Amino acid sequence: MSSIYGGRGLELVAGQGAVVRDAKGETWIDFLCGNGSALFGHCHPVLVEAAQKALPSPWTISSSLISGARDGLREALSSLLPKGRVFLCNSGTEAIEAALKLALSFRPGRKKIVALRRAFHGRTMGSLSLTFNPQYRKTWAEFLLPVRHVSVEDAPGAIDAETAVVFVEPVQGEGGVYPLDAATGTAVTKACRESGAILVTDEIQSGWGRCGSLLAGSQIGLDPDIAVLAKGVAGGLPIGAIVWRGELGDFPPRGHGSTYGGNPVIASVALASWGLLHSERYPDRAAESGDFFASLIEGLGSPLIREVRHRGLLLGAELSIKADPAVRELQERGVLALNAGPQVVRFLAPFTAEREHFVTVAKTLGEVLEKLKNARDAAD
Ligand SMILES: Cc1ncc(COP(=O)(O)O)c(C=O)c1O
Repeated sequence: MSSIYGGRGLELVAGQGAVVRDAKGETWIDFLCGNGSALFGHCHPVLVEAAQKALPSPWTISSSLISGARDGLREALSSLLPKGRVFLCNSGTEAIEAALKLALSFRPGRKKIVALRRAFHGRTMGSLSLTFNPQYRKTWAEFLLPVRHVSVEDAPGAIDAETAVVFVEPVQGEGGVYPLDAATGTAVTKACRESGAILVTDEIQSGWGRCGSLLAGSQIGLDPDIAVLAKGVAGGLPIGAIVWRGELGDFPPRGHGSTYGGNPVIASVALASWGLLHSERYPDRAAESGDFFASLIEGLGSPLIREVRHRGLLLGAELSIKADPAVRELQERGVLALNAGPQVVRFLAPFTAEREHFVTVAKTLGEVLEKLKNARDAAD
């Protein structure tokens, strides 16, 4: 087994909503949520029911056959963009690969690909080319596609008639939880429209309601040609999806495909999750509880917190110290979180987190920071 796995030394055997449990009965508030993919929390009854209903029927069929569940999901997703067309796959990085191929096929002859500094778009070779972090890239740097990584401020000016495609995360998650501002979002959209560059918004972490709307880019003037989704779409089952403006066309014949993409079991769960977004008003509630949580963390007044940045339930607390010891200490005290870059503690609370969970997590973070501050002061 690769050393990628199991580093936290924690095996979970059960979970309900925002709470998970190990075999000894010890519980954690889970604001890690499978790196944000358990967006509805664990074992949401509506999603469990959808999976159970789908399981006795064929799990996987060829993409050349028709699936009612896939059609339903296609219809739902296509409503996100004008005359939206949809491609389904199995993960975020795969969806980015699909978006990259599709965009380049729409703009033959153009060679320039633009992405942002701090961007994270995945780890396969195309998406790794778009990812900024040199640590993730260095071993394969010579094989990657030429991508111009520009600062947020420089982005609109970097888009020109040579540009085939521009990739933007409405909120940079992995790169440190940096929400893009509306002035930049609007300017990037305008530059893409004027130059004819294809605008791709990577909503893998920010989308599907987590940040307060189905697509977070809609809050900041990002009007994509292609929107990319994954993570929470099927409540934690593997899925990736891209939606694009239908008038742009389609993949060239035999230009793309996926064995499992859009399989009936996962499409059924994703369709149920789409239903929940609307029936439970989860995006609105994410905006409200995210603001509440941010105010609790700001209210801690810890001298170790430099800044709290959030959109809805995607929240990062930037520290003046390394984030890893804080994440470890949180786990010791019953809270699962993750880092986003070296100094940011990231919380990816599920829609089903309750007020008491936010209060407990904020209080625990306060205790952890107090302990780390005392340790630092003692060492000075
Ligand atoms: C914005 C963004 N893009 C792409 C990815 C890659 O998704 P996956 O891990 O499903 O390949 C991630 C995963 O964290 C992400 O946050």
